[in-house]
Amino acid sequence: MSLILGIESSCDETAAALVTSDREILAHKLAGQEAEHAPYGGVVPEIAARAHAEILTPLIAEALEEAGKSLDDVDAIAATAGPGLIGGVMVGLVTGKALAMASGKPLIAVNHLEGHALSPRLVNADLAFPYLLMLVSGGHCQILRVEGVGQYRRLATTIDDAAGEAFDKTAKILGLGYPGGPRVEALAKKGDPKAVPLPRPLIKSAEPHFSFAGLKSAVVRAHQSGAHRPEDIAASFQQAAVDCLRDRLEKAIAEQERCAHLVVAGGVAANTPIRTMLEEVAQENDMAFTAPPQWLCTDNAAMIAWAGVERFAAGLSDPLDFVAKPRWPLDPTAEKARGAGVKA
Ligand code: KG4
Ligand code: ZN
Repeated sequence: MSLILGIESSCDETAAALVTSDREILAHKLAGQEAEHAPYGGVVPEIAARAHAEILTPLIAEALEEAGKSLDDVDAIAATAGPGLIGGVMVGLVTGKALAMASGKPLIAVNHLEGHALSPRLVNADLAFPYLLMLVSGGHCQILRVEGVGQYRRLATTIDDAAGEAFDKTAKILGLGYPGGPRVEALAKKGDPKAVPLPRPLIKSAEPHFSFAGLKSAVVRAHQSGAHRPEDIAASFQQAAVDCLRDRLEKAIAEQERCAHLVVAGGVAANTPIRTMLEEVAQENDMAFTAPPQWLCTDNAAMIAWAGVERFAAGLSDPLDFVAKPRWPLDPTAEKARGAGVKA
């Protein structure tokens, strides 16, 4: 059995966790930065990096204490090394390197997206490769075929905004504040999803990719027109997002080699109508469906520690001069999508 310390600091959550290869989560600590970023309506990279630097070391100490473990008990230190806001990533990676050097334990530089991608295997021991992954977060919107540790085939990505970004922008337009996704979902419950006519960008297109920028512009126009209630805009936006995700997913399923299992990961997976839709699509296509619990869908260090467990088991570790990567695609062979390059 192995025990891995995981460190996460790529966006606005500082996190540390201890996870075993037996899927036991001995500790997982998380410190959000909502209060720091709320006045700006979004994450400010410099503020995030400073907050990570202040919080991370004590948080790791707390995680070790909660688990009743010391660094001596740990087999390796897994730290997010990208992609993400580079200042924050550097804080976590440098901390991981220092702990690895001081303890003589190996460093595992984890791709944050691999953390999300493998997280369903932390809660489902029967989830075997290959599986189809819908990765929907604040920075990413991709459909991937997960073929093994470090082996990913990207089937679709966004050509502009990520799904979570669209939720966050809609929240900002409607004056709901930050973080936006859960607030849009809550408001949408009171609205009519058919009230506001909104576009479904790229739906039915031959291209496999997602696009959300046009949907956002339409939300701006609907709001500015003054003709609609905010709850109706929220509900109609959410329905459009669900429809877009469903259409692209169905296309990917129809065109790819069969996977027995559909899996969702990333912060947007916390959205109930999206989860329900994914469950339906899985059922219609005779696939099993796994959605990690909500706390494991949004950024956390347990998924980084688990990616560490999987990489450690595969005999993988990284040199202490590993350089943090602001962009780090899971499938480096994937062609650039039109308009992409804005985001990893
Ligand atoms: O994976 P995550 O925690 O961070 C990134 O790596 O991006 O995802 C955060 C994103 C944000 O855009 C947030 O608004 C969205 O996930 N999100 C939601 C919900 N909860 C979080 N979007 C829609 N509905 C939700 N309930
Ligand atoms: Zn994430």
